[in-house]
Amino acid sequence: MALNIKRPNGVQDITPKNIHKWHTVEKIAKDNAENFGFKEIRIPTFENTNLFMRSVGETTDVVQKEMYTVMAKETKYTLRPEGTAGTIRAMLENGLLNDAMPQKVFYILSCFRHERTQQGRFREFHQFGVEMAGSQLPSADAEVISLANSILNHLGLKNIELYINSIGCPKCRAEYHKALKAFFETRKENLCGTCLSRLEKNPMRILDCKSEICSDIAKDAPIILDYLCNECREHFETLQKYLKNMNIDFKINPKIVRGLDYYTKTVFEFVSSDIGAQSTVCGGGRYDGLIEQLGGKPTPALGFAMGLERIIMVMENQNCDFLQPRTCDLYIVPMDEQAVEKAMTITKKLREYGYWVEYDVVGRTLKAQMKYADKINASFTLVLGENELVSNKAKVKNMKTGEQLELDLDEKFADRFDAICVDNMLGNLDQLIAKDE
Ligand code: HAM
Repeated sequence: MALNIKRPNGVQDITPKNIHKWHTVEKIAKDNAENFGFKEIRIPTFENTNLFMRSVGETTDVVQKEMYTVMAKETKYTLRPEGTAGTIRAMLENGLLNDAMPQKVFYILSCFRHERTQQGRFREFHQFGVEMAGSQLPSADAEVISLANSILNHLGLKNIELYINSIGCPKCRAEYHKALKAFFETRKENLCGTCLSRLEKNPMRILDCKSEICSDIAKDAPIILDYLCNECREHFETLQKYLKNMNIDFKINPKIVRGLDYYTKTVFEFVSSDIGAQSTVCGGGRYDGLIEQLGGKPTPALGFAMGLERIIMVMENQNCDFLQPRTCDLYIVPMDEQAVEKAMTITKKLREYGYWVEYDVVGRTLKAQMKYADKINASFTLVLGENELVSNKAKVKNMKTGEQLELDLDEKFADRFDAICVDNMLGNLDQLIAKDE
């Protein structure tokens, strides 16, 4: 019977065939973050809706159009559309911000946004993100950008551009808002309904509208860089000096405003030219007011998040290397019921040694079992038939070289198999070194 319940639009299954790609990105991102002193944090999948209204912002597309919210009893809860708000809430609630600064955390999590789906834009997607709290210095911005850059480089991504901008602080933003309002006021008959309401409350959001007409109008809008106060300008210039110092290429893009309301000063995006319209693989910036807004002491902070689906898409397009998945060390081929029992005891012992061992549990023929062992890429096989059980000896076959070695099936078997595996590993290593030379 055909399964007629399909997965919802905009979500994906990650099957065992592709999981090594996810493990590759997660491991490299995590290793790099740890090298920069970040520690992992895990936060809930849903939060009180007010958390996102207050942080992401009531006039953003995310809050206005894209949140998955349920009413449970009398409280509204929302599936996290991003990781920053929940992470900062958790840092506050668990007292992390009372500890020595800076506090640096990273996370790997799924996010939910009810967006129009297209290539690279999903309704459930995954982010690797970091947040650093407690430094207002541009060197912290340089650290965070350098970490994102390091992860993308270690993953082997090519043709990635880094764009940076400063969207100022509330002080300089006030002047900028006035200029934007004046600009859009004269063109307001063409703005979409949502942007018309943004004109009063938060004109900068119009710059981020996905409607073609609004983004066309916004092309000639005043740019924030012309309105920065001295402190914000200096911060931005120092960051640029640091990036140059570290040989991290970047371009200034005054059009980057980001789609979330909490940002101040530095914002940045890493963009790929290889995956179509949804090309931002990483986005982030400073949010110096957010912690106070959520009830903490005024504490500057910043971070970024990368979209794991998009990163994997770029890696696939560019034929980047993924970490090879582990394969079976030994496949035991039992020929009858008695041999199955022997296979069980050998398997149990070898698994205690940490080996990946399997034996036939579907009753295949010898030939079919050998084919299966080949299919799962087993390094060695061990056939157990009547003769082997009588003599208590069996041949371990190296599936790559065809070499066979007869071993006693006694209590020393696991040690002997261990020695063979070590030899095999050293042999493979020698081959690799010889190839390199
Ligand atoms: P964001 O720009 O909304 O920022 O998302 C970060 C990244 O998540 C994007 O650059 C993109 O790669 C990926 N992404 C976003 N939406 C989707 C989607 N619908 N489908 C697939 N991938 C998507 C944030 O979320 C901020 N919290 C980042 C941050 C952390 N800023 C400071 N700290």
